[in-house]
Amino acid sequence: MALIGVFDSGVGGLSILDEALRQLPQHDFIYLADSGNAPYGERSSDWIAARSMVLCRYLLDQGCDAIVLACNTATAQAIAQIRNSLTIPIIGVEPGIKPAAMQSQNGIVGVLATEATLKSDKFNALLATLPDQCQFIKQAGAGLVPLIEAGQANSEETLELLAKHLEAIQDSGADTLVLGCTHYPFLRKAIRKLLGDSITIIDTSEAVVRQLKRQLEANPIPGVKLDHQQLTFISSKDERSLLAMAHELMLSDMRSHHIEAKLLGAI
Ligand code: DGL
Repeated sequence: MALIGVFDSGVGGLSILDEALRQLPQHDFIYLADSGNAPYGERSSDWIAARSMVLCRYLLDQGCDAIVLACNTATAQAIAQIRNSLTIPIIGVEPGIKPAAMQSQNGIVGVLATEATLKSDKFNALLATLPDQCQFIKQAGAGLVPLIEAGQANSEETLELLAKHLEAIQDSGADTLVLGCTHYPFLRKAIRKLLGDSITIIDTSEAVVRQLKRQLEANPIPGVKLDHQQLTFISSKDERSLLAMAHELMLSDMRSHHIEAKLLGAI
């Protein structure tokens, strides 16, 4: 049994935790939401890298055996540095442009991500490895993360903003859309409403958790499994609202889990 840290700027990484609870029911988790500082997507690269490092060190101090950077923005800006400094497995998330390029029939792929992810060297290096015949329509989803953080994933305001952001992607005739931010899977319903059922939506949470599983199998942690899975939710803004959002947004049934919620002090 291992203790796994899952970190995001806010509630977005709950989409990864949800999948992790399905695939890894034998492990304990700490979910850390830096909602007091979200959104990260419009902040400077240096700020994101420094803050992500502080929070990963905090998770290591809590006894985590592995950490999922459940944030595309933090992965793009900080994963190399974090992997160099910490010796436990660090799993990141990246926009699924590679599977999208393989699955698209007409070679037109929309990518919805934060501004920081889209302009990062890591994302652009990945883009450069893909064949020229695939066209990527990149769109920064400015303003969407704060709405999701405020529990408004399905509100009229969110739908209107999303419609604006998806306009160029829709006009391009894209048949595939990459969700390049872990908050965006919570907009799936709104996206389907705007773009219909035929567009293929690429969300990498399943692949990320498979990767975590492989890493845990490669570095097994001895220990006895207790009867109940322990889930600890830590927020830098409001732990009760994080817990309420977890219940609202995640599909996993958490009734049999030991759940604790804590406020992150100033670090
Ligand atoms: N969930 C983060 C991501 O995947 C959101 C970034 C933000 O806070 O803007 O990029």
